[in-house]
Amino acid sequence: MRITYRSHGGNQAYWQERWEQAPADSGGLNLAAYPGRFAAEALAGTEGPVLEAGCGLGRVLRHYHGQGREIIGLDFIADALAKIRTQEPELPLLAGDVTGLPFADKSFAAVLAFGVYHNLPQGVAEALSECRRVLTKGGVLCVSVRADNLHNRCIDWLAARQARTAPGEAKVFHKANFRADEFAGLLRGAGFRLRIMHFVENYPLLYKFRVFRAADHKHFDEGLARAEGYRLSSLGHGLQALSNRFWPAQFCTTIVAIAEVA
Ligand SMILES: C[S@@+](CC[C@H](N)C(=O)[O-])C[C@H]1O[C@@H](n2cnc3c(N)ncnc32)[C@H](O)[C@@H]1O
Repeated sequence: MRITYRSHGGNQAYWQERWEQAPADSGGLNLAAYPGRFAAEALAGTEGPVLEAGCGLGRVLRHYHGQGREIIGLDFIADALAKIRTQEPELPLLAGDVTGLPFADKSFAAVLAFGVYHNLPQGVAEALSECRRVLTKGGVLCVSVRADNLHNRCIDWLAARQARTAPGEAKVFHKANFRADEFAGLLRGAGFRLRIMHFVENYPLLYKFRVFRAADHKHFDEGLARAEGYRLSSLGHGLQALSNRFWPAQFCTTIVAIAEVA
């Protein structure tokens, strides 16, 4: 696992600031894009309660709650949960940490965990075991993490250029990055059988440049991007599709794994 550092932030402080600034999610979820597409794939054919670990502002959670699915959201940023409550007061939510889930063994038929485990500076294997503990036999985990590949190394190089730390200034943990084989090994070690791994372009490098963004995304609007996906122009989409077609593991941003309790 490769660790990415930044000049400021850190895990909990980063999310606190990010969710304070972001508007509440609209409740829309694009089922053709990340993460909706993968949540739908993982939950197809499952029955029983679902946990969304690291639910953030609740775009996934709210969608399934609206469909009548029994689902609970957990996140360690209480302010994000408060934003969800202003929209959906009756939605089950719990403030807590994914490294110690406050649920009994075998409580859930499925766990959705999008973009959570790469926020842990250490203890990812233990957190995955914790996730397995709360799943029933045959229960399904859908998990995404930041990929350790050429694409994200370019992003990190750009970010390091833009925010050089002053001499003597400490760098802080930003994200853990995983190679596909490495993450598959972690899932196996935690007692999961891998069903499928997808190489996904969520927030592609090209989206950083206005010229490659879809017409209605030229002005950055996090709420829109989170509801629709980080949509590119035809040119941007073509370039991204080409690189993803030939080198998916190197040009994706995110690895999405769907696994079941072995
Ligand atoms: C990338 S966001 C994803 C939010 C949501 N799953 C979605 O796809 O919209 C990651 C979320 O994980 C939460 N998180 C990070 N580390 C966590 C931890 N140790 N325990 C609980 N939540 C955590 C953050 O607060 C944030 O809301």
